[in-house]
Amino acid sequence: MMSSSLTSVAYLGATILFILSLGGLSNPETSRRGNLYGMIGMTIAVLATVFGPRVTMEGLPWIIGAMVVGGSIGLYAARKVQMTQMPELVALMHSLVGLAACLVGYANYIDPMASLNLSHAEKAIHEIEVYVGILIGAVTFAGSLIAFGKLAGKIGGKPLLLPGRHFLNLIGLLVVIAFGYQFLHAETIDAGMFALAVMTVIALLFGIHMVMAIGGADMPVVVSMLNSYSGWAAAATGFMLNNDLLIVTGALVGSSGAILSYIMCRAMNRNFISVIAGGFGGGAPAKKSGGDAQPVGEVVSISAVETAELLREAKNVIIVPGYGMAVAQAQHTVNEITQFLREKGVNVRFGIHPVAGRMPGHMNVLLAEAKVPYDIVMEMDEVNADFPDTDVSMVIGANDIVNPAAQEEPGSPIAGMPVLEVWKAKTSIVMKRSMASGYAGVDNPLFYKENNRMLFGDAKKMLDEVLVALKA
Ligand code: TAP
Repeated sequence: MMSSSLTSVAYLGATILFILSLGGLSNPETSRRGNLYGMIGMTIAVLATVFGPRVTMEGLPWIIGAMVVGGSIGLYAARKVQMTQMPELVALMHSLVGLAACLVGYANYIDPMASLNLSHAEKAIHEIEVYVGILIGAVTFAGSLIAFGKLAGKIGGKPLLLPGRHFLNLIGLLVVIAFGYQFLHAETIDAGMFALAVMTVIALLFGIHMVMAIGGADMPVVVSMLNSYSGWAAAATGFMLNNDLLIVTGALVGSSGAILSYIMCRAMNRNFISVIAGGFGGGAPAKKSGGDAQPVGEVVSISAVETAELLREAKNVIIVPGYGMAVAQAQHTVNEITQFLREKGVNVRFGIHPVAGRMPGHMNVLLAEAKVPYDIVMEMDEVNADFPDTDVSMVIGANDIVNPAAQEEPGSPIAGMPVLEVWKAKTSIVMKRSMASGYAGVDNPLFYKENNRMLFGDAKKMLDEVLVALKA
């Protein structure tokens, strides 16, 4: 068993590794190293905790048994999950952090040892930690489960708008505060448990209500917001268990998640408060308000051979990948086509929207996996001005992120969201299987533009055909 000073040193080392890990993850080129730091840090943290002074010899077999069971489930899930299901898995993991905070809170309250030898003030602080920890944990748990359901398509993306919903939330908050007061003044464990139970039920309902009220178009922010909440839930657990490393790690996750939520909001031109207040972005094709024009005109389709011809003759090509590329697992063929065109002297670049796909950095991860060079993968702001000088813009399984309605139709649910202006290229080609709308459920007038062509079919299959035609 390790001494407490050795444990502290190990914790300090792990903290530094976690900070280096976050630093590494900020850039695709250093992200592998960042992940490695994180893994080493976490291994040190777990070992220092399990073999630290707070675990007794009798407890050790239980902990190792739990780690084997939990580790096996995690390993199985990580190996089995498809890249497109990653956001759901992440949401599910967040819910577990919330659940853990709740369980630790209850265990801590019942455990007589946890508040032994505490002064009156210390006991009050301990109880506030328990109350707040369970509160954050329950909101995170319920909210993440609903987010899982929405991302997996088990629950519709349409926002649930209860009458007087802000008022309901406010009443919930007041009840939670009132029961918090009762909890702190409870004479018996039973009275305290009652207050905790009422608060937990309200927190669970609040978590469900909060995410149910958020429409499809705002889900990216919700994913990163719940990421942040899970960090705060972990930090709350750290306070309850008096574990400094858990507090620091939780705070790192909580604050980086909050920064990411802010970045997401800015990328979508949305105000954080109005996202939380909910109600933006329908699940079904949105109704047009006022006199907004419905998309009109004809859709012109194109074949794989014609697409190859256009690409071969182009000087400048911008590829815009979206969720459909992930579904079709088309990134490797995309890379082969890119290589082929670059060898022929075509200037090929990628335009990545901040919320393309279903999780932050989704497209970057896929393109990196397929070994697309980092220096031709650009952010939206870096390429948006270049579309007028582009011969072919190629949209691969993307929809909402290239929807001109965001600029042209003030009544659209995605009005004001910055989008990649692919229609400004000489020709835009949209690859998808049908005329179906994207995640936000909004019609896309791009399909009807005069210079747009539709290449219908599964992205991988069609790109394979394009590659064959290119090489022919
Ligand atoms: P979407 O707007 O969802 O469009 C994806 C398109 O891909 C669909 O219209 C679909 O059309 C097509 N598709 C699906 N499978 C395909 C396949 N096998 N082959 C070819 N095409 C296929 O995706 P996007 O443009 O990437 O935008 C992302 C959306 O997700 C935004 O609304 C964003 O707010 C939301 N969202 C993002 C995140 C993050 S953090 N990135 C998280 C949650 C939600 P067909 O069915 O006709 O093929």
